[in-house]
Amino acid sequence: MKSETQVIVRPARNLRGSVSLPGDKSISHRYAMLAGIADGPSRLENYSTGADCTSTLGCLRSLGIKWERVENAENAIAVQGSGLALAAPSEPLDCGNSGSTMRMLSGILAGQKFASQMTGDESLSRRPMQRVIAPLTAMGAQIASENGRPPLRITGADLEAIDYEMPVASAQVKTCLLFAALFADGETRIVEPLRTRDHGEVALTSFGAHLDRHKNEVRLRGGQRLRGLEARVPGDISSAAFFLCAAALFPNSQLTVTSLLMNPTRARLLDILMQMGLRISVTQLEETHGELVGTLQVQGGKLKGALIAGADSAALIDEIPVLAAIAPYTEQGIEVRDAKELRVKESDRIAAIAANLRALGAQVEEKEDGLKIPGGQTLRGAELESFGDHRIAMAFSIAALRAQGETLMRGSECAAISYPKFFDTLEGLVER
Ligand code: S3P
Repeated sequence: MKSETQVIVRPARNLRGSVSLPGDKSISHRYAMLAGIADGPSRLENYSTGADCTSTLGCLRSLGIKWERVENAENAIAVQGSGLALAAPSEPLDCGNSGSTMRMLSGILAGQKFASQMTGDESLSRRPMQRVIAPLTAMGAQIASENGRPPLRITGADLEAIDYEMPVASAQVKTCLLFAALFADGETRIVEPLRTRDHGEVALTSFGAHLDRHKNEVRLRGGQRLRGLEARVPGDISSAAFFLCAAALFPNSQLTVTSLLMNPTRARLLDILMQMGLRISVTQLEETHGELVGTLQVQGGKLKGALIAGADSAALIDEIPVLAAIAPYTEQGIEVRDAKELRVKESDRIAAIAANLRALGAQVEEKEDGLKIPGGQTLRGAELESFGDHRIAMAFSIAALRAQGETLMRGSECAAISYPKFFDTLEGLVER
């Protein structure tokens, strides 16, 4: 097991400066997998530095896909696509902490001519996989699991297209099925209950696939070949969320975020923060390979409260931890509803948020599918737990910036799952 580290976070006065984020985690996984099954070479710049995306690269290598880090280029990887047929791995594929790796890659493995096994760490081993097992089985793959949880043993098959209404709103599942659809005979149709992030659809198009989209429905015909891509991954908005929320804590903050992913299915946080009182202006907006990228200028202000419910809860699923962590400092507080998916993330995030807020001395009401956090509270620094969950470690390091006294975050090393340089970058932006 990896050794635990801890960080001390001291209160801050302000956030000032300019930051550009490592490549978006969701896009990095998808680009790497599609580059692996494309015909010909791809070059991916600003590839996510997170350990999760390295897990994806490790799995791809075990499947015979050749890739290397490009020398003298920051976080660029060159991938030599294998085409749709991969090589049988000699060992189980280690997905580490990454649910995205396991769920999305299962769509590709389901269409291979061999059997393979996917494993993960303790946290990933608790996460629900029935959501990919059921539809992939309906397409013809055989998948053995531990009662719907990892490890997964996938025996690939000649897949049949499927017409599938997803019971859970999950972009990972949608992407998994679109990947499987490439290998299937006929046209696959997927309908999602709510619109989730569309990086799978956008990336497939960039790699040369044709798909049809209409509202919550996407259709893709099997047998299409992909071509390689040269692209730069836009900055991760879910990582930027920590700095945006930190800036929101102090009226005198001034922050610039350059080359940030602004895909409308990911940028709901910006609307919510603006409604709450943060002043955000966007410049240099451009589209690259179907993804919007822009520069943000952010100024602090008074922070009102917010209600996050329904489609917003799905759209903000990765940003709710940090919004909840700053909720006590808002005027009216924040209520989160319809977010029971948070209970099956890298940790039970509803329980983790409630535990850390209470440790900081805050009032919080924990519900089965959300939280109610009153505003106008004063918090005091405390000893907090990351629960081995990167977003919890980072979210509560932000809350600590406005607490009275120091906060100790235990298990802070897990921030590296999505953002290894998070604490260094934060230190560079805070003024005390
Ligand atoms: C992701 C989708 C979301 C999100 C995860 C990344 C993706 O998960 O929480 O961090 O890249 O598709 P679900 O698909 O489980 O909602």
